[in-house]
Amino acid sequence: MNDAAPAQLDTFSRRTTKLAVVGAGAVGSTLAYAALMRGAARTVALYDVNAAKVQAEALDLSHGVQFVPEATVVGSDDISVCADADVVVVTAGAKQRPGQSRIDLAEATIGLMRTILPPLVEVAPNAIYIMVTNPVDVVTYASLQISGLPARQLFGSGTVLDSSRLRYLIADHVGVAVQNVHAYIAGEHGDTEIPLWDSASIGAVPLLEWARTGPKGAFDASVREEIAHEVVNSAYRIIEGKGATNYAVGLAGTRIIEAVLNNEHSILPVSSLLDDYFGISDVCLSVPTIVGRRGVYDQLQVPLSDAEYDGLKRSADKLRAVARQFGF
Ligand code: 2OP
Repeated sequence: MNDAAPAQLDTFSRRTTKLAVVGAGAVGSTLAYAALMRGAARTVALYDVNAAKVQAEALDLSHGVQFVPEATVVGSDDISVCADADVVVVTAGAKQRPGQSRIDLAEATIGLMRTILPPLVEVAPNAIYIMVTNPVDVVTYASLQISGLPARQLFGSGTVLDSSRLRYLIADHVGVAVQNVHAYIAGEHGDTEIPLWDSASIGAVPLLEWARTGPKGAFDASVREEIAHEVVNSAYRIIEGKGATNYAVGLAGTRIIEAVLNNEHSILPVSSLLDDYFGISDVCLSVPTIVGRRGVYDQLQVPLSDAEYDGLKRSADKLRAVARQFGF
């Protein structure tokens, strides 16, 4: 065999995309699995302080790469495993126990971000950072300050998951495909979040039109309230039953990664820093946002009812107050 061949092959190094997942717990490992299944990135790097756990997760995922789009998986307790990542997804944080709200995790998770983010930004200064750890809006706001990154480059998964829960429930209620339901949850990823009913549609039919002209009671106020209640309480129910949520958040996170790496300019309700969004500023929360390779491009000025605006404002006031409590 020609000795020069392997070296020559090396010179054809392919442009690859690298995803770094910080935290190899239930959310991080499931997100890595979802990203591999969907071929979201060619290299998936897992980082966790628990060396045995992160190596085991990476090994387990590696053994499946034959069955997914081409990818390499690496795992380490050395942060340099994240070096030069295109996207860093942060899932490490305090674990939500049954009965705890996401806000209850703020102190512990913000403390962790103070430790993790500076070395991460050093090894992956150009990555787009997607915060998935809770309370995601407060953590995103604090992380912008801790990291010093521009607001477009670091944002949170926000209510992408909650919106998929909402769309699932609406689709189930009317018996149409979830892909044909367009509806967003905005505000906090948590107890004060609000469904944007005014701009929701099924196919091309405004959802509130169904309430007026569709089958009797299809979307009257009580049905809408029930659905909203179910969305807000979904995570509590799942945590009660199995200790954590992991599958849907893994898929939702992967959806955001794809929007970034493929430069899709997709509209996703991620949590980003608002600056005079209908007069709301200096807080991270979710509104429909254009997401692409440079991260956050723009927040859409969605038509809001008065109640929706009030709800958004309530979320903003609450999240700002929590951030202030922790010195941000
Ligand atoms: C979720 O909504 C707990 O934030 C997590 O599933």
